[in-house]
Amino acid sequence: MKAVILVGGEGTRLRPMTIHTPKAMVPVVNRPFLEHMIEHLKAHQIRDIILALGYLPRPIQAHFNDGLAFGVKLTYIVEDTPLGTAGAVQNVASHLDGETFLVLNGDVFSDLDLTAMLAFHREKKAMVTIALTPVDDPTRYGVVETGSEGRVLRFVEKPPREEVTTNLINAGAYFLEPQILSHIPKGVFYMFEQGLFPLLLSLGAPVYGYPSQGYWIDIGTPEKYLALNRDILQGRTFCPALGRSPLNGLWLAEGCEISPLARVSGPVVLGEGCVLGAEAYVRGPAVLGPGCRLGQQVMVEEAVLWREVTVKDGAIIRGSIVGRGSIIEKGSLVEAGSVLGDGVTVERGSRVESGTRLWPEIWTGPKVSQGQD
Ligand code: GTP
Repeated sequence: MKAVILVGGEGTRLRPMTIHTPKAMVPVVNRPFLEHMIEHLKAHQIRDIILALGYLPRPIQAHFNDGLAFGVKLTYIVEDTPLGTAGAVQNVASHLDGETFLVLNGDVFSDLDLTAMLAFHREKKAMVTIALTPVDDPTRYGVVETGSEGRVLRFVEKPPREEVTTNLINAGAYFLEPQILSHIPKGVFYMFEQGLFPLLLSLGAPVYGYPSQGYWIDIGTPEKYLALNRDILQGRTFCPALGRSPLNGLWLAEGCEISPLARVSGPVVLGEGCVLGAEAYVRGPAVLGPGCRLGQQVMVEEAVLWREVTVKDGAIIRGSIVGRGSIIEKGSLVEAGSVLGDGVTVERGSRVESGTRLWPEIWTGPKVSQGQD
C-alpha cells in the first residue's frame, strides 16, 4: 500500500512560522510535524510514502533523505507550480502501482484507524472513501452528508444553521482506487474537494464516508498549532514520539542546566541543552526547543518556543509561539496569542500586545501591537 502525503502548500495562515519552515517541518513537541504523520502510517504498516512537495521542499528532503532512518521509503515529487490537492496526486501517478492507495493532507494530526478504514473501503467496494470527523460548528465548514450505509449523498459548503443535517467534515484522508486518476486533468490546478469528489458523485461513482470519533486537528493556524502541542502534553491524544508522561510531567532531554532555584510545573518538554536561570519559571503546558536559554526570573507559560530562543532576565512569555533564534530582551512581556517568527528581537522592556504577529528578523520598539509586521 502506497501513501501520498500532500505537503506542497504555503501554509499562509500559519505565517510567520512558515516563512522559512514548510508546515510539514514545523516542530510539534520538538519533532518536525511530518515525523508524527510517518509514525502514524507505520503503525498501520504503511511504509512506502510519496511526498508531493511544492513550497520549500529542501528542508523536508534534507531532514528525511530516503526515509530509511525513519523506517520508511520516501519518494519526492516537486511541483513547479501548485497543482492543488488532486492535481498533486495526478502528478505522482507514475509512482503509484495500479492498486488502492491512501492520500493524506500533510497538516493533520489524528489517531484515525487507517486499518479499519481500509477494511470499510474494501467491504463497500468504494472508489473513494473519505475519512470524516465531527466539528462543533458545521456552519463554518464544508460538511459531508452520508446515507445510512455511509454512501456520500452531498457536499454542502457552510450550511446555514437551520439546514444543518450533519456535523461531519472531510478529515483530509482518503483511500482511492486508481481509476480516479482518469478523472483528474493533467498538469493543471485541480482540487479533490471542489473538483474530483463532486464530479464522481455526479457520475454515480461509489463515494463513501468513514466517520471517526477519534482525535483530529489540523495545524493550519497558530491557535490550532498551539492546541495540538497542548493536547499532546495534556494527554488528550497519544503521541508515540513523545511517549507517556513522566511522573513529574517533565520530558527532559539531555544536557539541560536547570538552576536549583528554577521551577518547572508540567506538562513541559525541554529540548536538549536548555538552560533555566535562577527563579525562572516554566508553567506547562509548554515546549522549549533545543538550546533555549531562560535568564533569571523569566516566566514562560503555555507557550511553544522553537530552538535556541533566548529570554533574558525578568521577561515574560504567555500563550505564544516564538520562532527559532529569537531574543526576548530583559523585562519584556509577550502577551498571549502572539506569534513571533524566526530571529525576532523584542527590545528591552517592550510589550508585545496580544495577537501580534512579528515577521522574521524584526527588531521591536517599546510597544508592539496587533497586526504589526
Ligand atoms: P494555507 O495557505 O494556510 O491555506 O495552507 P496550505 O495551502 O498549506 O494548506 P491547506 O489546508 O490549504 O491544504 C491542505 C494540505 O494540502 C496541506 O498539507 C498542504 O500542504 C497541501 N496542499 C495544498 N495545496 C497543495 C498543492 O497545490 N500541492 C501540494 N502538493 N500540496 C498542497
